[in-house]
Parts: sequence; C-alpha cells; structure tokens
Amino acid sequence: MKRIVVVGATSAIAEHCCRLWVEREPVDLVLVVRDRSRAERIVADLRGRGPKSRVRVEQVDFLSASEIGALVDRLSSEGPIDVALIAHGLLLPQRLCQQDIANVQETIAVTALSPVLFAEAFAKVMEPVGRGSLGLIGSVAGDRGRRVNYTYGASKALMNAYAQGLQHRFAGTDVKVVLLKPGPTDTPMAAPHKAAGRRLASVEEVARGTVHALDRGRAVAYLPPRWRLIMFVVRSLPAFIFNRLNI
Ligand SMILES: NC(=O)c1ccc[n+]([C@@H]2O[C@H](COP(=O)([O-])OP(=O)(O)OC[C@H]3O[C@@H](n4cnc5c(N)ncnc54)[C@H](OP(=O)(O)O)[C@@H]3O)[C@@H](O)[C@H]2O)c1
Repeated sequence: MKRIVVVGATSAIAEHCCRLWVEREPVDLVLVVRDRSRAERIVADLRGRGPKSRVRVEQVDFLSASEIGALVDRLSSEGPIDVALIAHGLLLPQRLCQQDIANVQETIAVTALSPVLFAEAFAKVMEPVGRGSLGLIGSVAGDRGRRVNYTYGASKALMNAYAQGLQHRFAGTDVKVVLLKPGPTDTPMAAPHKAAGRRLASVEEVARGTVHALDRGRAVAYLPPRWRLIMFVVRSLPAFIFNRLNI
C-alpha cells in the first residue's frame, strides 16, 4: 500500500486530496494535525470512502522542531514514505497584522516556518531512500507582495525559494518536490473572499490538481492552471504601475 502523510490534514484542500486518494486505491494514510479532536470527523468520513485504506491520526506541536523531527523519523522507520503533503497555513487579515505584530509572528510561524520544518524533516528521510513526492502548498500570494496580504504572501514567498532549493538538491533523483500554488479557493480560509462576491475555484478542482501534480512530480503547479498566466502578468508589471493598482 502506498504510504501517504498529510500535514495540516484538517485543511479543506488536504481533506479533499485524501478523499481522492482513498477512493482511488487502498492507501496507508497518516493525518498529522495540531488537535486530534478536529480530525475525528475526517477520519470517519475517509474510512467510509475507502474501507480498505488504513487511516490514522498523529498530533504534534506544529512549531516544535524536535517534535516534528521525531514524528517524521518515527513514521519513516515504519517504511518509506511515498507521498508527503504539507498543507497548513494561516491567513489573518493584513489589517490585524498591522495593528499587532504578534499577528505577523503567528502568520509567519504557521505559514512559513512550520511548513519548512516539516519539509526539511521529510527531505531528510526521503534522501537515503532515494524516492518520494514532497508537496508543499504555497499560494499565488507568494508571487508578488500586495498591500492586502503581504504578511501571508511573504510567508508563501519563503516557500517558493525553499521549494526551489529542495528541487535543486534533489535534481536527478526520484525525490520530487512539488510546489502547489492555488489561487483563491472555496475553503474556510477564503470565506471573506466568498462573502465579498469574489470568484473562487472549487476545492474539488484544486484537490484534483494537487493529486495530479504529485502523481506527475511537477515542480510547480498553479491551481487552477489559469493562475500561471495571471501571475506572470502580475509579476511583470513595473512598480510604478503596480503601486497604483488596487489589487
Ligand atoms: N483557500 C484559498 O483561497 C487558498 C489559496 C492559496 C493557498 N491556500 C493554501 O492552501 C492550504 C490549505 O488551506 P485551505 O484553503 O484548505 O484552508 P483551511 O481549510 O482553512 O485550512 C487551514 C489549515 O491550516 C491549519 N492551521 C490554521 N492555524 C494553524 C496553527 N496556528 N497551527 C497549525 N495549523 C494551523 C488548520 O488547522 P486547524 O483545523 O487545526 O485549525 C487547517 O488545517 C494553506 O497552506 C493555504 O495557505 C489556500
């Protein structure tokens, strides 16, 4: 059975990826969460969808390097990890970050520091095995800082460089590092966008794209793919134009 570890498994995007995995074939699935009680509904649902899969939960302090390292080492000692997906992130309103720098600290800790601690821990155990897919959920917000969400965006930008470095490290091997870059997606995180009437991608479509990119070992996947072109344009705008736009 394929061994899949999903970190931040209570995220809507991650949960929908898990549904696709257990519905496709029996898998050995480990859901890594910060609060076990939040995963109970998801575990019951996944067991119903994929009765032949093995689904279990691990609770860990997402900001503890020692706990993260020990957990990943333990999971790896049970056998090679085929797929690891790191999904968690925190999008607080930028206004709250400007009012209280504690919110800046929390955003960067949860959205940048914690995911790269997990990524480095998985890289360490995948390297000697010589294979595995390591997925990190970044965001289109990491492609250019904008006034509406630059604390969150900068956290995601850190992931861009981190994933690039890992891809360089594992070039020519069967360890594939995949950076997923969703645009606004209909999950609890994007509830304010939804309330404001913005067009959102469905979580099902983004999950399908995530699983597909991991299957293919793609370096970067914009989800839905139209965001590749949109962000190319946004990144290309000169500052004297960009800074006048309300985007
Ligand atoms: N939705 C979008 O529009 C969008 C767009 C681009 C990128 N993304 C990225 O996609 C990924 C999945 O997000 P989603 O849209 O599926 O959102 P979601 O359903 O709101 O899930 C957010 C996840 O982050 C976890 N989290 C929040 N605060 C945390 C903390 N302090 N410590 C540890 N974990 C924490 C949550 O865990 P709990 O359940 O324990 O709170 C949950 O697993 C994130 O990395 C997000 O940045 C989302």
